[in-house]
Amino acid sequence: MKLNDYIEKFKYHSLSYISEQELGDIIFDDENKMISIFFDPEQEMLILRYAVNNIDDLITVLKGEKRKVLIPFVDPSFVSDLKQLGYEVRSIFKDYFKRDFSDVEKSEGFTECLISESLEASKLTHSVINQSRGFFGQSEIWFKTWMDGTSDDVKDMGLKHQTVLVKKDGQKKIIGLVVVGLYGFDSESGPTVWIRELVVDQNYQGMGIGQNLLSDGLSYGKAHGAKKAFLHVDELNENAIHIYRKFGFYPTEDGQIDMTKS
Ligand SMILES: CC(C)(COP(=O)(O)OP(=O)(O)OC[C@H]1O[C@@H](n2cnc3c(N)ncnc32)[C@H](O)[C@@H]1OP(=O)(O)O)[C@@H](O)C(=O)NCCC(=O)NCCS
Repeated sequence: MKLNDYIEKFKYHSLSYISEQELGDIIFDDENKMISIFFDPEQEMLILRYAVNNIDDLITVLKGEKRKVLIPFVDPSFVSDLKQLGYEVRSIFKDYFKRDFSDVEKSEGFTECLISESLEASKLTHSVINQSRGFFGQSEIWFKTWMDGTSDDVKDMGLKHQTVLVKKDGQKKIIGLVVVGLYGFDSESGPTVWIRELVVDQNYQGMGIGQNLLSDGLSYGKAHGAKKAFLHVDELNENAIHIYRKFGFYPTEDGQIDMTKS
């Protein structure tokens, strides 16, 4: 069966926003359940995905699962049962949209990260990993493939104009970056600019650089035709959410609950 067949067949699933390849190895596939395991090289974690009609079928599998796995998109009604098995909420991502673009300036004077600076960009993201829940950093290869257009995210979403905008200090060191790309060129409501990551070096935080980068990301989007903007952020990342709300982003109702054992 294909990904969409499982989504249609089962009431509950954690198969949103993934490619066939990210389904990984299917370890159970019967009338009651589909369970798969995928090693995510970015997070260096095993991702267990499920499609079930009844939580008991997932629980039986988890009781026999001795490896440390991350379960994405846990249905809210499953959370307390999974907690009893020793799983904890690792992050709750919410989708935020900015639908009014009238206040976004259409400037073009941006500094783009070079592919040769991928390692430096990656190190910056890793330096702030423990600062906010739900921020995990990105690898050098992730940055390279985002910029050269070969990453799965870029290919699966049909992203265009994907880039990394940076701010540098006097020594030309990257002190902040925003990862952006545009999708939805066939959509009636027009393209969307995806603000994929926003990071500022801890030594330079609180100086307005994050807001400046976000503003650049939105302007870059508008310059390439975006009519709205999208991002995900963990609901506990108050600092980032403060900025996103200030710029007119509003959350959609549902959050993506990811759980793992500590
Ligand atoms: C989020 C981040 C990019 C902000 O960068 P920054 O350069 O410090 O941001 P700015 O200086 O432009 O703005 C900080 C704002 O947050 C506010 N703020 C700071 N701490 C806050 C908190 N705990 N709760 C609410 N608001 C907070 C500041 O008052 C300021 O807002 P103001 O200008 O309205 O007063 C930076 O903290 C970061 O890199 N965090 C780690 C990575 C991350 O979580 N990225 C976002 C998820 S993709």
